Amino acid sequence: MPPVFPETVLHTDRLLLRPFNSEDADATRIACSDELTQQWLPLPAPYTIEHATSWCTEVSHRLRTSGDGIHFAVTDAGSGQLLGTVGLKKTDWPAQVSEVGYWSAPWARGRGMTAEATRALGEWLLGEQGFQRLQLLAATGNTASQRVAEKAGFQREGILRNAGYVHGGRVDLFVFSLVPGDLAGN
Ligand SMILES: CC(C)(COP(=O)(O)OP(=O)(O)OC[C@H]1O[C@@H](n2cnc3c(N)ncnc32)[C@H](O)[C@@H]1OP(=O)(O)O)[C@@H](O)C(=O)NCCC(=O)NCCS
Repeated sequence: MPPVFPETVLHTDRLLLRPFNSEDADATRIACSDELTQQWLPLPAPYTIEHATSWCTEVSHRLRTSGDGIHFAVTDAGSGQLLGTVGLKKTDWPAQVSEVGYWSAPWARGRGMTAEATRALGEWLLGEQGFQRLQLLAATGNTASQRVAEKAGFQREGILRNAGYVHGGRVDLFVFSLVPGDLAGN
């Protein structure tokens, strides 16, 4: 059996990060059908309620139990409303390196929620889980995602040429990382 991340709930000042469940399906369908989400993530198009239900009840959980990573529903700590997702993927257990990905729902954007969730996930991975590096890849044209990386404390390292794929075609990717030394003083 490969190593796996434990089923986990994370708290921040404003957010509760928890596993997806079937009640997240409709909001997930709307968020993943959104034009900006579809522009930057190679999700199915159209993104149907069947895709959303499968992600919320099966796929996101299987990606944890397979050892690939862990995926959180980012919710409002007060109301419980789904605001987005943040997750780990392509985890290299021997190297203690993982990669973060996210989207936020259109109704949650511009309030710093994704940066807050990404920082919390990074602190958990590099702290409690003892990992050595969290990588983040953002298309060179995706300014909002790059701002999330910077606000969450990641350092920009360089460009991976022609490394990404979105519906519009191939894209260059900025590579960012968060390492344990970046958390010093917190
Ligand atoms: C990227 C994304 C997750 C950001 O979510 P968010 O919750 O709005 O993120 P935050 O509020 O934490 O920060 C967004 C930052 O980007 C900035 N921003 C948003 N749109 C921008 C634009 N078009 N140009 C420049 N900056 C922009 C915001 O002003 C904010 O920065 P600030 O706090 O310095 O003002 C969201 O835009 C999204 O879901 N995009 C589609 C999916 C996606 O791109 N996923 C990542 C793939 S790598």
